[in-house]
Amino acid sequence: MDKMVINGGKVLRGEARTSGAKNAALPILFSTLLAAGKHRFTNVPRLMDIDSTSALLESLGCKITRDGNNLDIEVGELTSIEAHYDLVRKMRASILCLGPVLTRYGQAIVSLPGGCAIGTRPIDLHLDGMKAFGAEIELKEGYVRASAKKLKGCTFLFETATVGGTENLMMAATLAEGTTVLENAAKEPEIVDLAEYLNKMGAKITGQGTSIITIEGVKALKPAEHRIMPDRIEAGTLLIAGAITGGDVKVTDCRPKDLEALILKMKESGFTIETGDDWVRVLPAKSWKSVDVTTAPHPLFPTDLQAQFMALMAVAEGTSVITETIFENRFMHVQELVRLGAEIIPKTRVAVVRGHKNGLTAAPVMATDLRASASLVLAGLVAKGETVVNRIYHLDRGYENLEAKLVALGADVRRAE
Ligand code: EPZ
Repeated sequence: MDKMVINGGKVLRGEARTSGAKNAALPILFSTLLAAGKHRFTNVPRLMDIDSTSALLESLGCKITRDGNNLDIEVGELTSIEAHYDLVRKMRASILCLGPVLTRYGQAIVSLPGGCAIGTRPIDLHLDGMKAFGAEIELKEGYVRASAKKLKGCTFLFETATVGGTENLMMAATLAEGTTVLENAAKEPEIVDLAEYLNKMGAKITGQGTSIITIEGVKALKPAEHRIMPDRIEAGTLLIAGAITGGDVKVTDCRPKDLEALILKMKESGFTIETGDDWVRVLPAKSWKSVDVTTAPHPLFPTDLQAQFMALMAVAEGTSVITETIFENRFMHVQELVRLGAEIIPKTRVAVVRGHKNGLTAAPVMATDLRASASLVLAGLVAKGETVVNRIYHLDRGYENLEAKLVALGADVRRAE
């Protein structure tokens, strides 16, 4: 079904449980290519991107069995070392199979990921890193062809903090000869979750979560078991859903520590936020102030919550300046929010949001990418009337049953043709 229909004005109340993190599950599933045998995962979210990853792993010869949020991967000798364009074009994170296949098999052929709505998404740092390990890299006919007898540990300085680049090189380093030091490594919690799984497989990684990660290469790894960490972006999205409706929502099975930047900004805006070991709760607010936000690598404000927070600022009181420093085209949701009545002036990397309480009125809008669709759903929760979000399939890439969770909180949301 291609549309989501939202009748705005309901105040959300109750509890919503966070699913497993898409951006932890994807690299962890690719890391299974490093070790033959049966890997077992729980709390794996049921998402299109997980299905795409499963399809790619099966095309390489893996056997996957899925039972709800449990997922087992049987990795044998690969029947192919090629990640085909038809699979990679559906999900850019497929580039994360490069490191594992190259370091374990000495060669890999991976389709170059295409463009993406939010930015050019280059992989130059992934490839520079593989060359630093001593790999030959050739770009031909839309594919990366990488080969190396044996990767050699190295010290690699990332000129930009890159989540995927850090993950790809960390995985490649686990079976490289000698020691690798990744400098200016990304510090996202999903990288820590991946490193934890790699260490369960027998890797020797330290420093994950800081900007210096050290990996001692080992001869071989063995399969293990892991529970995927909670999805901090989904948790933040659910918290904003409670906040924007003036509701009282407790998000459970999440990690407040991972949401620190968002919680600080919501408190600055005037919301009362309570936290426990594994839950965060936003209390009812009649109005809230506009605050400025600048996205940046973890632990600062996540780019993946920028669109959602902009919806909250569209109905705040005052003017909010939102600066997007990570991706060059991550304001695709702005014109759609304007169709709902928001007053937003977009510049290149900055959007000025003039907030108006009750300023949103329903209209048909178009989802353009995963987090933009979440932003439009959040705005629809408070827009007067019936908002129809078209191309809602973008949402299914990264949110497990979001509408069911919102309906359970009292929202009037349904899918439609
Ligand atoms: C990951 O993408 C996430 N995806 C993104 O989430 C997230 O927005 C992003 O990290 C930033 O936090 C997954 O984990 C699957 P980057 P990734 O490499 O790894 C530049 C979502 O909504 N760069 O950290 O692709 C790049 O252009 C998605 O769930 C290079 O220049 O992001 C960007 O400006 C969207 N050269 C910056 O680094 C490279 O070789 C950060 O990108 C690699 C990246």
